[in-house]
Amino acid sequence: MFQRTFVALVSVLSVSSLVAADHTFTFRNQCGNSVSPRIANTNCGYSPRCNTPGSGGVPNPAISYTGPQPNTLGSGQSQTMTINRQWNGRIFAQNGNCGPSGENCSLGEFNLDTGNQFTAQAYDLSNIQGFTQSMRIEVNGCDTVACTNVNCGCSNAYPPGDLSGCGNDSPVRGCSAGDHSWTITFCP
Ligand SMILES: *[C@@H]1O[C@H](CO)[C@@H](O)[C@H](O)[C@H]1NC(C)=O
Repeated sequence: MFQRTFVALVSVLSVSSLVAADHTFTFRNQCGNSVSPRIANTNCGYSPRCNTPGSGGVPNPAISYTGPQPNTLGSGQSQTMTINRQWNGRIFAQNGNCGPSGENCSLGEFNLDTGNQFTAQAYDLSNIQGFTQSMRIEVNGCDTVACTNVNCGCSNAYPPGDLSGCGNDSPVRGCSAGDHSWTITFCP
């Protein structure tokens, strides 16, 4: 739903330079079963933000993540990795039925280091294509979002099949510029 969001939010672009740095992501599995977190790029694909400034309605071009995928995490395990600045993509738990970009599954969606003064980082949970995994996104200094059941509602996540984007993209949160530490918890 980022296309809608950024058309709405980007009415004034910053002329100041905003610092963009890499981000620390910790994946934490609190489920009873093992989980295989996946990192997928959506720039120049599901997202209109691409490798040119201004694409997707934001000043900074997206930069694809090309590093390793997270390990499969046993119950209680966690792993910390670095995801590059200006990343635009999804994190999901691959259950064997999700597509390569998380199609048909619960998603954490990220649009980082946009260069936009008001929404330097944007993130949300989306179950539009199906609720397959309870998840929580935490980031230092900004809102925590969590969805632990299919009826968690628009204040927490895009609901299954909701092509209206909750009417106002209310699931999307913003965070300040710079490097951040993100924690993605499965079964929070
Ligand atoms: C998503 O689910 C539908 C319906 O089961 C299926 O036809 C489609 O191939 C799935 N997409 C992916 C990318 O797995």
